[in-house]
Amino acid sequence: MEGWKIVEIEWEELEKWAKEARKMAYAPYSKLQVGAALLAGDGQVFVGTNVENASYGLTLCAERVALGSAISKGARTFRAIAITGGPLLITPCGACRQVLAEFGLGLRIRCFDENGQKRDFVLEDLLPAAFLGNFLDRSSF
Ligand code: THU
Repeated sequence: MEGWKIVEIEWEELEKWAKEARKMAYAPYSKLQVGAALLAGDGQVFVGTNVENASYGLTLCAERVALGSAISKGARTFRAIAITGGPLLITPCGACRQVLAEFGLGLRIRCFDENGQKRDFVLEDLLPAAFLGNFLDRSSF
């Protein structure tokens, strides 16, 4: 899938915000600090970091924190998200893929690390045959 068109200068800006956000990560258990920067349709950027918890399963991923922040400000359209695990190039977990899919499968995703490695995706390719709101259309069950 093609997804939204993102020019390199936009990716650079998003990478900068994701790196900055990562510095605020609360990750005392895994020690994996993650930063994410989400670009809304109107050009606003919303950041997130992972927020761990002593009850491990309650941990929030950086991507979902960024999305929650954006939604809280009224944003509903998203073009791209940049994600960094610092020394680690990580890809978004399954739960984050599902939560991001709610707002469009055309979302462009850049995963990058601090050594200059990058991998670009479109959400639809990371979550094929997604379960979306249209399945809940009452006429279909
Ligand atoms: N984590 C994220 O923040 N985003 C991902 O895409 C993968 C995992 C966090 C959750 C947890 O705090 C730590 O990384 C280890 O799983």
